[in-house]
Amino acid sequence: MNETFDLVIFGGTGDLALRKLYPALYLAETDGNLHASGRIIAAARQQLDDAQFRAKVSEALKRFLPEKYDEALATKFLARLTYFPLDVNNHAQYAQMKRSLDERVSRTVFYLSVGPSLFPAIIGGLQAAGLNTPETRIVLEKPLGRDLKSSREINEVVLKAFAESQVYRIDHYLGKETVQNLLALRFGNTLLEPLWNRTWVRDVQITIAETVGVETRGEFYDNTGAFRDMVQNHMLNLLCIVAMEPPSSLDPDAVRDEKLQVVRSLKPWTAESLREHIVRGQYRGGTLAGQSVPAYASEEGVPKDSITETYVALRAEIANWRWAGVPFFLRTGKRMAERRAEVVINFKAPPHSIFPGALNPNRMVITLQPDENVRLYTMAKAPGDGMRVREVHLDLDFKDFFRERRQDAYERLLLDVLRGNPTLFMRNDEADAAWRWVQPVLDHWQHEAIAPIGYTAGTWGPPAASRLTAKEGTAWHEETSV
Ligand code: BG6
Repeated sequence: MNETFDLVIFGGTGDLALRKLYPALYLAETDGNLHASGRIIAAARQQLDDAQFRAKVSEALKRFLPEKYDEALATKFLARLTYFPLDVNNHAQYAQMKRSLDERVSRTVFYLSVGPSLFPAIIGGLQAAGLNTPETRIVLEKPLGRDLKSSREINEVVLKAFAESQVYRIDHYLGKETVQNLLALRFGNTLLEPLWNRTWVRDVQITIAETVGVETRGEFYDNTGAFRDMVQNHMLNLLCIVAMEPPSSLDPDAVRDEKLQVVRSLKPWTAESLREHIVRGQYRGGTLAGQSVPAYASEEGVPKDSITETYVALRAEIANWRWAGVPFFLRTGKRMAERRAEVVINFKAPPHSIFPGALNPNRMVITLQPDENVRLYTMAKAPGDGMRVREVHLDLDFKDFFRERRQDAYERLLLDVLRGNPTLFMRNDEADAAWRWVQPVLDHWQHEAIAPIGYTAGTWGPPAASRLTAKEGTAWHEETSV
């Protein structure tokens, strides 16, 4: 970093800040990536002094980065931190904040790590104090609204005070090294591109499975659900990276223009596809890693009769020349059998077989987490008499090649904001297109009072999700061989 900065984190004592943001900034410190005189200012309602606040952050670093914690480095990092008690509705306090920021020339970044209901008050305060100068940047944490209407309202408020080029809408999935590796795999090789289309691909599956439940976020989650929490943002971003056309460069808008084209090409929902192509689930009690876990409806902060979904599986289609007719199956859920994020490309079967027995079509499985590898299932001759073929796999494990530390997603994205690189952030038009595509699903569930189907915690979700793929003559990756 060759530019000094003031990073103001609103919601600076919140869960996300303590769990993710300070640890990410601390990691950036370990690599010497923060400018020596950069400052981090936490603004929140609690009455704390700097020492009390630093103690809180120090505790969080020890808890969330136990292996990386180093006393000397932590002391250096904590010295950057100050605390600013703030009542978001009190404009006089923003003027006071301005005075402390004005002391020197630096890049100012405002990070809104708060619920969107507080955005108008904070942005109003920044505006009233004249803090929204063209040199500042503003980072918006999801959820950016609950639906198309509220997301547009938020955008209107934001874009009245800041130009689009100053706005960084964060989606931490785009900051994951493994997700960016998808770009490298697709556009750094010639091998895949000729096959990456409707001629050779039978279907694509994108899964983000989690084993965690809703933890301490019951109340928030019950108002959100898996579709808004994961599909509208993380999953659609993954889909874009898998399906986009090659951008002409890594220029921020070259990449974002291509992503936008994918979202805009998503086939709109119809009455039939709303009925047939989406499965809504909610976990019941079950067993995970030998421990019994409660049903969603018994979690703290969740009403007993909640009809919020903790699982979604859907079939989407991209209406363009590359992908027309290829089903894209997306699914995500809490309390599933394994923690795993993966992209599976199922290729078409060979058009004609000269071998006895069945030929399994090729399949490429790109695992994004917890491991990072690519496995290509191919057919090979089984040893012995005759020409029998059997499925084998080629494995590419990235940890065999890269010894460097993987940057944390928030670390990378925070550094990108400080450096002014918006490539991995959602532009307004893309976020809007995503909301436009998801809105009919939200409306359908609400108007028809569609209750989620129960699935046992520790499984891969409701059986209806298997029917979704079976209807198209395919199956979820874990249901197929090996
Ligand atoms: C967040 C969601 O955006 O992503 C959480 O709000 C979810 O519900 C999390 O658990 C998953 O992120 P990761 O990086 O752990 O896969």
